[in-house]
Amino acid sequence: MSSLKYFTAIVLLISWFLSIQAEKSSKSCEFQTIFNFGDSNSDTGSMSAAFYPAIYPFGETFFHEAVGRASDGRLIIDFITKHLGLPFLSAYINSIGTTYRHGANFAAGSSTIMRQNKTIFEGGTPFTVDIQIVQFSNFKSRTGKFFTQENGSSYRKHFPKPEDFSKAIYTFDIGQNDIADVISKVGKEDSHVLISNIVEYFSTQIQSLHFYGARTFWIHNTGPIGCLPVAMPIHNAQNNQTQVAGYLDQNGCVNYQNDLAKEFNKKLKDKVVKLREQFLDTSFIYVDMFSAKYELISNANKSGFVDPSKICCGYHEDGYHVYCGNKKTINGKEIVPGSCDDPSKYISWDGVHYTEAANHWIANRILDGSFSDPPLPISQSCQITH
Ligand SMILES: *[C@@H]1O[C@H](CO)[C@@H](O)[C@H](O)[C@H]1NC(C)=O
Ligand SMILES: *[C@@H]1O[C@H](CO)[C@@H](O)[C@H](O)[C@H]1NC(C)=O
Ligand SMILES: *[C@@H]1O[C@H](CO)[C@@H](O)[C@H](O)[C@H]1NC(C)=O
Ligand SMILES: *[C@@H]1O[C@H](CO)[C@@H](O)[C@H](O)[C@H]1NC(C)=O
Repeated sequence: MSSLKYFTAIVLLISWFLSIQAEKSSKSCEFQTIFNFGDSNSDTGSMSAAFYPAIYPFGETFFHEAVGRASDGRLIIDFITKHLGLPFLSAYINSIGTTYRHGANFAAGSSTIMRQNKTIFEGGTPFTVDIQIVQFSNFKSRTGKFFTQENGSSYRKHFPKPEDFSKAIYTFDIGQNDIADVISKVGKEDSHVLISNIVEYFSTQIQSLHFYGARTFWIHNTGPIGCLPVAMPIHNAQNNQTQVAGYLDQNGCVNYQNDLAKEFNKKLKDKVVKLREQFLDTSFIYVDMFSAKYELISNANKSGFVDPSKICCGYHEDGYHVYCGNKKTINGKEIVPGSCDDPSKYISWDGVHYTEAANHWIANRILDGSFSDPPLPISQSCQITH
């Protein structure tokens, strides 16, 4: 081999090697399809389609009408789809004017991991995660027929192709309502046992989705429920615990409630590690939503937000609660809470759900992988690092 040829070969070899390395460390997954599971934190229209439509001022900021999201505007899932270059995700049960070409959203407000012994009027849900996964399985098998039966051809453009399912990203944001249920049972049942059972059941649901072909999971842990303004004593005149040492943290959040959320998160993380060992063909990303949200709450002022205990829409004074979108007569006076002048300065929209501005802030912090284990940006989350 002449020295020039030899040199060229070496250079080619090095550049080939470097390109392989670059590909390995920054390969974009180019997701075309997303399936989401969860509660009101990522419901893009399920509850509105199934029961009563959401009403104004929900949706006022971005959509300028109520669109079935529990916020003034977009949710974190909306910023996720935008970041991935995908359109808004339609709720699976929304039959009107929807498209499912790039996936479907099974999340529904009030949803839990565990089945609840409550009607929807008591805060229960028909759409527990196991049911959401049954709906997904229906979606997959029924749309699959359009691609095998000749008479299905006209439907094909509205749905993911059968081969898209294994390349899709499967996102989860669930657990907050289960923790709320645990909180309601404190002193009556063993919280540690309840939380272990919830995580165990969640793990079996994730395994069943793996059975149906999911290979990339992006799993949010649960947020600081004790920082939701409606939980704070400041909005609960009857709560006389504020003087008890350690009841509140430096941000005014209820410690014991956040501790239950943290226990769930720790057990969930351990479970995700086990799932990685069990399914070597699958990427499981655990996203520390608790820390992202808590960081926002701790740095509210620095980030341009008002006191995080403030609620943009709703009346929560003197022991009375009138939630945003509702009305109630109190002492002969009808209370119809309007929204604040500038929702973009508030973290909490309605005392339970975050504003679009807060959702945007949180999405920007989590999408680059800063709060993920392993620390992959969402666009590279299909990479299996174990
Ligand atoms: C469900 O709730 C009803 C009414 O509150 C109660 O009577 C029943 O025992 C509960 N069942 C379970 C399994 O907890
Ligand atoms: C399409 O064809 C299959 C049989 O190949 C049949 O079972 C099904 O009912 C047909 N669907 C429609 C919409 O005509
Ligand atoms: C709060 O009120 C309850 C019932 O009124 C009472 O039993 C309890 O001791 C009070 N706790 C504190 C810290 O004052
Ligand atoms: C942040 O804190 C300063 C000092 O207390 C206050 O003047 C300012 O209005 C606060 N910013 C917001 C957005 O509330």
